[in-house]
Amino acid sequence: MPSECRLILKHADEPGYTPDIECYARHGGYEVLKKALTLPPKNLSDGKTINPPEQIRDDVKLSGLRGRGGAGFSCGLKWSFVDRKSGKPIYLICNADESEPGTFKDRQIIHKDPHQLLEGMIISCFANDVHLAYIYIRGEFPEGARILNRALQEARAKHFLGKNILDSGFDLEIHVHRGAGAYICGEETGLIESLEGKRPYPRIKPPYFPAILGLYMCPTIVNNVETLCAVKHIVAMGASEYARLGTPNNTGTRIVSLSGHVKRPGYYEIEVGRVTIGELINDPAFGGGLRDGRTLKAVIPGGSSAKVFKAGEKFRLKRKVEGKDVEQEVGMLDLPYDFDSLIAAGSMSGSSAIIVMDDSTDIVEALANIAEFYAHESCGQCTPCREGSLWMSKALHRLTHGEGRKSDADYLVKIADNIPGGRTICAFGEACSWPVQSFVAKFREEFVVKGAADEERRAKENKTAEPIAKAELAVSSRH
Ligand SMILES: Cc1cc2nc3c(=O)[nH]c(=O)nc-3n(C[C@H](O)[C@H](O)[C@H](O)COP(=O)(O)O)c2cc1C
Ligand code: SF4
Repeated sequence: MPSECRLILKHADEPGYTPDIECYARHGGYEVLKKALTLPPKNLSDGKTINPPEQIRDDVKLSGLRGRGGAGFSCGLKWSFVDRKSGKPIYLICNADESEPGTFKDRQIIHKDPHQLLEGMIISCFANDVHLAYIYIRGEFPEGARILNRALQEARAKHFLGKNILDSGFDLEIHVHRGAGAYICGEETGLIESLEGKRPYPRIKPPYFPAILGLYMCPTIVNNVETLCAVKHIVAMGASEYARLGTPNNTGTRIVSLSGHVKRPGYYEIEVGRVTIGELINDPAFGGGLRDGRTLKAVIPGGSSAKVFKAGEKFRLKRKVEGKDVEQEVGMLDLPYDFDSLIAAGSMSGSSAIIVMDDSTDIVEALANIAEFYAHESCGQCTPCREGSLWMSKALHRLTHGEGRKSDADYLVKIADNIPGGRTICAFGEACSWPVQSFVAKFREEFVVKGAADEERRAKENKTAEPIAKAELAVSSRH
């Protein structure tokens, strides 16, 4: 029977568990920090010695932890890219922007167990020789910012922050920085610009890789809230014990935000890859199935920018059977919920937000909604993204307001195909095109039928479609 595996959310929903430091301490809080700060140097067989920060960095690498913010990049590898020889300060930023539509996991940690995040951050800062760190929290989370500021005060009072923390010789200060509410502030370089007090225009990579030229042009680590919490558990359990959770290359636990047409929407912490999409949707321990009398139509598996899956889709995936690589056909609902399986199936687990759509969903309306969001949130630096996201949104607005054309499906794909693939500064270009490409590819008929019906109606009314430019102008006032 699939079930939750609560590691990060172990206490969060227990009756009587509160976000204050006394409650956290009663549940073993800050003991892992004490362990980290007092680790003895490790002597290797070749006579070399590894200091405690290096040991933690090695453990994070060995644990296989992959970033929980979206891209699923190895946390240990990211930390290894940090320029430690520049002579400049190294900064750590906790990305608490949580802006990907469908995602609502980081806020659970912030609201219910803020000290766990602080402990994970302090250990990560100790491991990386960071003495100043920030929590960048989205503007729409005023309560989260208040809770974090109070937790910081409590941690300072107990000497878990400040100068010479617990007499270890390690100094650290952490500040909360509130964003003003923009999706692009979740993109790490846009976030850094915003933290510096500027418009959140993402930076070009290269040269602006945060590990080398990040905040104030200094080496910077940007990690998601959940990733930093996982660091605490890796130090507590040891790398190999942590890596036993989940599946090879997809280790540990992940908090999945499940929303849409299921009976029990909510957040569920699972071992990565040990639960399938179907179990997450249908099992009584998770989504509890679709609403009565409904059938499944589509699933977005990793936040609004992930490519959509159609009910009944099948994929050919390479799997290990008795130690050998074999290709197997796997149905969408049987896909293990992990980083690699979803990429192999042509989508991604992204921010681990699953959006379930049943047969009552108007797919064209659903895509119009997503496209309007991206058109609104493009920062506007790159022409393909700025113009393309708006054109797609306008075309979908026409299609959902009786002004569609049969050719709109092709028109949408043509625009979407010309945005990603290295034509833009940041991955927002991909994020806004993938939904359009996948929705139209998998539900083409619905777009064509809608456009054709509009054309037929206009023909009966003896009207011609407005030229695209004029029609788009008509809705451009909305943006
Ligand atoms: C448009 C866009 C929005 C993003 N929004 C978020 C976000 O809200 N939260 C987050 O943690 N990462 C977000 N990311 C990913 C970050 O750029 C970055 O990869 C992540 O914070 C790194 O942390 P991790 O390695 O722990 O996952 C976004 C990326 C893009 C391209
Ligand atoms: S891809 Fe879009 S969001 Fe990213 S920098 Fe370019 S215009 Fe801005």
